[in-house]
Amino acid sequence: MTDPTPIRFDDGAGYERMMGTWSRIAGGVFLDWLQPAPGLRWVDVGCGNGAFTELLVDRCAPKSVHGIDPSDAQLEFARQRPAARLARFAKGGAEALPFEHGQFDAAAMALVIFFVPDPAQGVREMARVLRPGGGACAYAWDILEGGFPLEPLLAEMRAEGQPPNLPPSAGAERLDSLQKLWTEAGFVDVHTTQFSVQRTFESFDELWEIAMLGTSIRQKMASLPDEVRHRLKERLRSRQAPDAAGRITWNARANAVKGRLKG
Ligand SMILES: C[S@@+](CC[C@H](N)C(=O)[O-])C[C@H]1O[C@@H](n2cnc3c(N)ncnc32)[C@H](O)[C@@H]1O
Repeated sequence: MTDPTPIRFDDGAGYERMMGTWSRIAGGVFLDWLQPAPGLRWVDVGCGNGAFTELLVDRCAPKSVHGIDPSDAQLEFARQRPAARLARFAKGGAEALPFEHGQFDAAAMALVIFFVPDPAQGVREMARVLRPGGGACAYAWDILEGGFPLEPLLAEMRAEGQPPNLPPSAGAERLDSLQKLWTEAGFVDVHTTQFSVQRTFESFDELWEIAMLGTSIRQKMASLPDEVRHRLKERLRSRQAPDAAGRITWNARANAVKGRLKG
């Protein structure tokens, strides 16, 4: 049974070591698929600590980037990034973007759609702030189908009867759901895809340390007795197959969508 504690993003540096690295790996594959034109005015909805914003600045030659996120801790980290030479960060939520109609060319939601309590409203807001012909895109872990980066640990936690909380709109990231959300918000030429990424850890101890920085995992683990945490760790360790150097590689899978407004 899950408890009702919402997932809180209150540690930008911890996020960077855990999800920020995954975000960069997956965000790169996502941008390869997207192939955005240079010189666009971007809004990065749910920019978090700026991990994906940094990719936009480094790889997409944007004219401007505005990142929006409700978490002060994430924004504080984002503002210290090299991307802040160009990107601007402000507090806000996807359901009511603090921008005028039609002021952006491109809108992105990276690893966010399942955190937005009303995903349809979030996608409508992206459409509202885009100019005619502008494009909106998103990607998110295929969380209900085992695509989350920490799935082997989640499986152990479920077996223990202690699953971490899911984001409030888990299911919005499914391919059919993304297609529907984009189409109903008025986007055309809507395309979806699914892709896998990998991350290698130097050792099981590194993997475990980093996994414990995961937002929902950290919250759940803190609520468990020491012996349960220990049991989970040893069970996970026994199921890993390190390479000859002791490294462990984990996979994750994401769903992505893109579409444009009529010009
Ligand atoms: C997994 S992080 C993704 C951050 C970043 N986009 C990345 O790729 O690393 C999810 C982010 O969504 C933010 N978030 C939660 N609820 C939100 C909402 N209603 N609107 C916009 N962002 C939200 C969180 O604060 C968090 O920073």
